[in-house]
Parts: sequence; structure tokens; C-alpha cells
Amino acid sequence: MTITTERGRVAGELKSGSDLLYLSRQDVEDIGITRDEILDLTREALVEHGHQRYEMPAKIGVHPYDNVFYHAMPAYLPGPGIVGMKWIECYPDNPRKFHLPQTTGLLVINDVESGAPLAVMDSAWLTAMRTPAVTVLGAAALHPGATTFGMFGCGVQGKEHVRYAALAMPGMETVYVHDTNEAAADALIAELQPELDLRLVKGESAEAVTKSAQVLSSATVILREPLAVVKDGWVTAGQTILPCDLNTFWDPRTSQRADKYIVDSIAEHELFASMGYFPDGLPAIASETGEVLAGVKPGRESADEIIVNSNIGMAVCDIAVGNAILHRAIERGAGTRLPL
Ligand SMILES: NC(=O)c1ccc[n+]([C@@H]2O[C@H](COP(=O)([O-])OP(=O)(O)OC[C@H]3O[C@@H](n4cnc5c(N)ncnc54)[C@H](O)[C@@H]3O)[C@@H](O)[C@H]2O)c1
Repeated sequence: MTITTERGRVAGELKSGSDLLYLSRQDVEDIGITRDEILDLTREALVEHGHQRYEMPAKIGVHPYDNVFYHAMPAYLPGPGIVGMKWIECYPDNPRKFHLPQTTGLLVINDVESGAPLAVMDSAWLTAMRTPAVTVLGAAALHPGATTFGMFGCGVQGKEHVRYAALAMPGMETVYVHDTNEAAADALIAELQPELDLRLVKGESAEAVTKSAQVLSSATVILREPLAVVKDGWVTAGQTILPCDLNTFWDPRTSQRADKYIVDSIAEHELFASMGYFPDGLPAIASETGEVLAGVKPGRESADEIIVNSNIGMAVCDIAVGNAILHRAIERGAGTRLPL
């Protein structure tokens, strides 16, 4: 799948300016966009970003409680002509306090020609899909031929990371998983082992997983003060680490001494640093993930390099996927039309 617009057709179908399509979480899931399609859409959005063909101010947010954020994530991709915004929150205590996901939100897609809103959709599914897609695209580019993957956090993101690693990292043989909640790791293995043609292993400890896998990722919690669960001394030459929970899980010294610290968005990381994340300082940034995927900047240049690739999430990926969901919904007659 390529990023498609046909905006005249979508705007026409929807009577742009008078009708809006609402897509619930179930609608979005039932539309049937595949993980392969998400990988293609995400790759294209990253490449557009790598070529600087985008407008995407760093997330502005509000913060009602400590360690809680709401982010407004607007973006415009001029190539395919997609404009939209995700409005998303992160409440790390939601699962414990309310049996709710940490992250919920909505995505709006507008008609770039008239500006009129075309669709509002639940953004949980697309966030659960595009985040691991970014991780594994980064992993495949930065660590081609890896056969072992370690996943910290076995929740919504962890589970999808394992699925995407199996899909997008050819030659992957073993995935080690770890979660402080052992039941989450057991549930991940019970659900995914039957569907995946690789070995899933519950790691005995964070240290054992770190020392077993060439490529590591974490999706746990995002906190201002690093938990530093993975000690710098456990990380060895040649490993690739791809956090999607910012700097929380890792000993800050690892990112500081990495041969390359690559981020999805420099502006986003600088913004988080200005809000008090990275209390030990933002490491020197070598390049952006999209630049590596676009071939504008180098990825791995030697087998010994330690590479940290931090992807905090970009609206260009959200709107690329949201736009595809909207197109598919129109084709299938899915969703609820509402008057504007
Ligand atoms: N970078 C991005 O684009 C992006 C997008 C969405 C979510 N996230 C972040 O990813 C993280 C996970 O999100 P989710 O929706 O999967 O949450 P989730 O609550 O479904 O899963 C988190 C899992 O991490 C585990 N965990 C917590 N602390 C841990 C620790 N110290 N060691 C090992 N496991 C631990 C929890 O037990 C839980 O199973 C959150 O921090 C979220 O903000 C990032």
C-alpha cells in the first residue's frame, strides 16, 4: 500500500464541510488494514520525514498530574496532501487504578483543500500499530540479520512489537520477553506462540534478556526520572536498543556512550528534555530515524557499534495510517456519518 489521497473522492463521498465520518475503535479494527500495510505506510511517512517534506511542530501538551500528559499532535504531509491531528493522553497509572489503557485518544483527518474535518476516529489501534512498525523498521535498518530480539513490557505495545519483529525482521529466531508483571509475559507467550514461527522465551530477568538479545526494545512507562532498570554494564558492543518509552527504562549512561543516538524527531526529544525528562541531559543526536530510512544519513557503520534509536512517536505516521483507514472506511461503507 502506498499513501493514497484521492481527496476529491473522499471529500465528495463525505459531502466535505457538512458531514463527518466517526470511526469507533471497533470500526477501525474491523476495516482490516494489515500489519504489512501499516509497515508500508509508516515507512513512507518516515521517508517523507527524513527528506524534510513535512510540517509537524513538536507536541504541545497539558499536564494535569505529575507524569501525566495530553499531547496535541498536528501534522501535514505535503507530498500526499494529508493533514490531521492526534489528541492523545498518557496516564501511566490507568491500568492499576481504573483498568483502563495507559493511552487513549482520537485522530482528526481534514480535507487539505477546504480545511473541513473529514473524519474523527479512535486512535488506540493505530497507535498500537504504528509504534512497533517504527521500532522494527528502525531495527531492520540498523541491525540487519538480527536473530534475537528482547522486549521489555508485555502490554499493548509489547505484544505488537513481538508480532512486528516476527513480520519485518527476516531471520528472527528467538524473542525474549520480560515484564515485572509475570502474568503479562505469560499471556503474551500463550497468545502469540501459536501464531508465530519463532521461539518466544520468558526472560528470567531484565539482565538475562539484555545479555541474550542483539536487538532490544522497551515499552513500559514514561517517567521523568529514569528507572534505569537495564544497567549500563549489561549492554555490550554491537547491540541495538530501541526504546519507545523515552529514557525511562535504560541507564542514561548507555545512551550517553552509544556510538549513535538516533531519534525519530529531534524537536520532540528537545521538547521532552525542556520539560524535565532526560535529567542527565539529552545525549548528542546523530540523526533522525527517517533520515536513516531515506538513506540521507548513515545507519550502522560497524558491527561493534552500540546504537540507541529512541522513537517517541510522530504525528506524520499517525496521519498516514489514519488517512488509509479513512479511505478504506469509505470503500467499505464503515463508520457513522454525523452532521458537522
Ligand atoms: N513511542 C511511542 O510512539 C509510543 C506510543 C504508544 C505508547 N508508548 C509508550 O509505551 C509504553 C507502553 O504502552 P502500552 O500501551 O503497551 O502500556 P501497557 O500498560 O499496555 O503495557 C506496559 C507494560 O509494561 C510493564 N512494565 C511496567 N514497568 C515495567 C518494568 N519496570 N519492567 C518491565 N515491565 C514493566 C507493565 O507491567 C505492562 O505489562 C508507555 O510508556 C506508553 O506511553 C509510546
